[in-house]
Amino acid sequence: MRIVSGIQPTGSLHLGNYLGAIRNWVRMQDGLAEGDECLFFLADLHAISMPHDPVSLRAATLELTAALVACGIDPARSVLFNQAQVPAHAELQWLLNGTARLGWLGRMTQFKDKSGENREGASVALFTYPVLQAADVLLYQATHVPVGEDQKQHLELARDIAQKFNNDFASADQPVFTLPEPTIPPAAARIMSLRDGTAKMSKSDPSDMSRINLTDDADTMVRKIRKAKTDAEPLPSEEAGLSGRPEALNLVTIHAALSDCPVATVLAEHGGQGFGPFKARLAERLVETLAPISARFTALLEDRSSLGAILAAGSARARALGAPTLDAAYRALGLVR
Ligand code: TYM
Repeated sequence: MRIVSGIQPTGSLHLGNYLGAIRNWVRMQDGLAEGDECLFFLADLHAISMPHDPVSLRAATLELTAALVACGIDPARSVLFNQAQVPAHAELQWLLNGTARLGWLGRMTQFKDKSGENREGASVALFTYPVLQAADVLLYQATHVPVGEDQKQHLELARDIAQKFNNDFASADQPVFTLPEPTIPPAAARIMSLRDGTAKMSKSDPSDMSRINLTDDADTMVRKIRKAKTDAEPLPSEEAGLSGRPEALNLVTIHAALSDCPVATVLAEHGGQGFGPFKARLAERLVETLAPISARFTALLEDRSSLGAILAAGSARARALGAPTLDAAYRALGLVR
């Protein structure tokens, strides 16, 4: 297995990132067999596809490195790096641009969401972003890519690009690229905003009350859960009773994910209750899970030079791991180097 995934260093890590992706990264890393390899990276090249502040990007890159280590990514076992130190990502993107089709990119829902009304004013990088994402995983012959639900379409595109490139430029018995499989958690694949159960919990939501940040202190987490939007009905005892109640479904899903149990188990315990006692229990679970991570995070941030050293070492390893595939892609295209 070759496990590869990334996260953009924009804003701080939130509960959706943690339950949807990072917790799975750690579990996959911890279950690694001999010969398997995990690569996790900060998608800093992706972060320049939206308007950004260079000083904040630089700070966020180190902070997110600390956050990933605090969550359990071990730089001794996983290759932890940032894209900007591995030029092969950008190089391979260019090579894949010849294979990716405009029509495929035009169907990407994230581009439509992020460009909004002002499509003409969106950056070219925002449009070609999924090709860079394909390069990120194909460069390392990724077999498994642990992500939340929102990245599924980008991973399908990566498979399409790999397949077309292999068909057009490689022999059937010697493909250049491996087709990657998305690994999406069955439960917490899509954690929703605490203010609107129909919108994804996201770093870019202007309301901080919409998300739980890893950096929130215990009181803030408790307050955010207490103020989370709900409806007037008590919790149902059966899952069917959650349909049409997106905010209730979201809170129950978060509780189930934090407790590592099915939604039905949470409802068996809390069905019939109002949201008051349920929210109190949920906030407790949240603080139990995130407070130790948050404490490790704060300690790691004290030593920024060690964080820089982690990224430098990880990037050197990533450059070595990616080199053979990049070479093979150049050769397959008939480019003389
Ligand atoms: P990003 O930085 O938006 O999110 C990082 C990871 O967190 C997951 N996630 C969520 N999961 C559940 N509920 C949510 N509300 C939620 N919000 C975010 C995302 O699915 C993701 O797994 N384009 C990617 C980064 C990237 C990447 C890659 C990922 C760049 N190259 C190659 C995998 C492979 C992104 O912006 O994720």
